[in-house]
Amino acid sequence: MKDAVYDEFIDRLRSECDIVSILSDYVPLKKKGKNYWGCCPFHHENTPSFSVTTEKGFYYCFGCQSGGNVFNFLMKIENISFFDAVKMLAQKMNIPVPQKERTAQELTREREITKLYRVNEMARDFFYACLTKTAYGKTAQEYLQGRGITIEMIESFKIGFAPPAWDKLVQAFLGRGVEQDLLLKAGLAVQRNSSEGVYDRFRNRIMFPISDVRGRIVGFGGRVMDESQPKYLNSPETLVFNKRHILFGFDTAHKFIKECGQAIVVEGYMDVITAHAFGIKNVVASLGTAFSPEQGNLMLRLSRDHAIEILFAYDSDSAGQNATSRALSILRNMGANVRVVLIPDGKDPDAFIRKHGAEAFKVLIKDAVDFLEYQIKQAFDTTDHSNLEGKVAVVSKIVPVLGAANNAVEVNAHIARISQALSIDESAIRSEVRKFLFQNKKDKNVKVGKNISNIIVARTPSVATEQAERHIIRLMCEDRSLISHIQTNLPVEEIQGEQRREIIELIFNEYNMGKNIVDNAWTMSLSEAANAELSLIMLIDIQYNDIVKMVDDCIKSMRLTKLKGLYEQHRLRADELQRMGDDRFLQELAESQRINNEINKLHYL
Ligand code: GTP
Ligand code: MN
Repeated sequence: MKDAVYDEFIDRLRSECDIVSILSDYVPLKKKGKNYWGCCPFHHENTPSFSVTTEKGFYYCFGCQSGGNVFNFLMKIENISFFDAVKMLAQKMNIPVPQKERTAQELTREREITKLYRVNEMARDFFYACLTKTAYGKTAQEYLQGRGITIEMIESFKIGFAPPAWDKLVQAFLGRGVEQDLLLKAGLAVQRNSSEGVYDRFRNRIMFPISDVRGRIVGFGGRVMDESQPKYLNSPETLVFNKRHILFGFDTAHKFIKECGQAIVVEGYMDVITAHAFGIKNVVASLGTAFSPEQGNLMLRLSRDHAIEILFAYDSDSAGQNATSRALSILRNMGANVRVVLIPDGKDPDAFIRKHGAEAFKVLIKDAVDFLEYQIKQAFDTTDHSNLEGKVAVVSKIVPVLGAANNAVEVNAHIARISQALSIDESAIRSEVRKFLFQNKKDKNVKVGKNISNIIVARTPSVATEQAERHIIRLMCEDRSLISHIQTNLPVEEIQGEQRREIIELIFNEYNMGKNIVDNAWTMSLSEAANAELSLIMLIDIQYNDIVKMVDDCIKSMRLTKLKGLYEQHRLRADELQRMGDDRFLQELAESQRINNEINKLHYL
């Protein structure tokens, strides 16, 4: 086929396709005026700024300034080439694709891809034979048996074993005429440092073949049989293996998912295998903990005909909880229906199903909680709310969640429950939510997370800090010998109250110049507001046994409040980044962890 024919074909696709119906597979769209509107699938937003014009066949997002035609959209959302977007659109429209004349480069690439599938398939058969037919396989078989993996499961997942030697696979494959280069490109072999030769990547591991949607083998995960590290070794990224695009078990699970309108996402290989073995077959794994938007797309593609609900059943440890929150926000941004399966006592689905059976797991599935409930539960579970401070912390975590929810009846019901659980007034929670909504409205362009931090920061010159600062001033006025101690331990910039900072600065200055601050002459140079504040400070009823300890307690309390504020800021920033799928959230998380450690250290001083 000549390129002109191909270009004509592309034009035909573009003019004949109904862009709204194609995009609706990914973004719920509503007609408003001449155009259609929805929430942009390419960035996080709660109010629609993504518009589609049917007339011109374009989409444009006013929020993130991305736009283009139907092909650009498919390329971006499916992360595919132009050529594949054309193929995909033709398929959606049931129009056969004429063969395009390929460039030499395209042909080489395609040939290579075909070879990769083939060599991976050979490797799967090799590992499978090693497990089931060789003497090496004995220990591996025993290991699998010990974990309750039956012959049938080995057979249906084509589980295998990589022998405990340096080059069994390499030798066997080279002997069969496979090129060394292909073994490297497939990630089955690794280059030796010292020579031309290569050796097996996977050695002495249980091998799980990983397939793409169409069942082609794209890579492997290999598990050790003892406690050594890494527990799992995966194929490296190759031309055909991109972890972000793969869901383990999807090739078999997708028809069950369509059938029951529900998909269950778990973390690991073993969770999928056990669930399938126990007859729960609509289960896939995201392989590790970071669920990607591309994996979300894989699932949402199934929901073309009828809605599909996606349930997360990640491990209930804290890594699993973080991963769940992140996955939920990714999928919600894509317009998916999501819930969370809560697995009791820190188990993963594999362990739970083995211990309690499939029926018990189905009960957990039935009781899965929605996004709002999950976030509220998280706030309770991750905060000690036995004291007032903890209760305030829980509320400040929940307020943005409630503020973002759009069902008032539901929100009200939650507020009633939360107020009961924390034994605080419903109206107090309501007013916080109002405050949040108000702050959010004031500047729509500011990201939600920023507003949350503002609320907390605004509250930080807390009662405790204010009191500590006042006490410090008062104590210095009572005993001038404390001044130098305070000066070395308390940077003036750290004083939150503006007037109090003025007072303290002046006290330090006068002291450094050798003046006596016990008489009141020095107060003459204070501003009016600072003078008023000082008067108030002189009226405080203050009691102490050990004056130096009291000073130190004040400084400690101020430092704690400051660190807690910082901690909140980083944590919120982390949440925000995580919600937006930005990997920098890890840095923020690490920083908040570091601050948290500092807080803990201070507590034990
Ligand atoms: P078992 O411990 O055998 O029950 O496996 P599991 O699948 O339950 O493992 P786990 O819950 O520890 O981890 C969940 C998933 O994360 C695994 O299935 C792997 O896909 C991935 N994973 C875990 N450990 C590693 C690792 O060390 N390296 C890599 N690349 N992935 C890992
Ligand atoms: Mn496990």
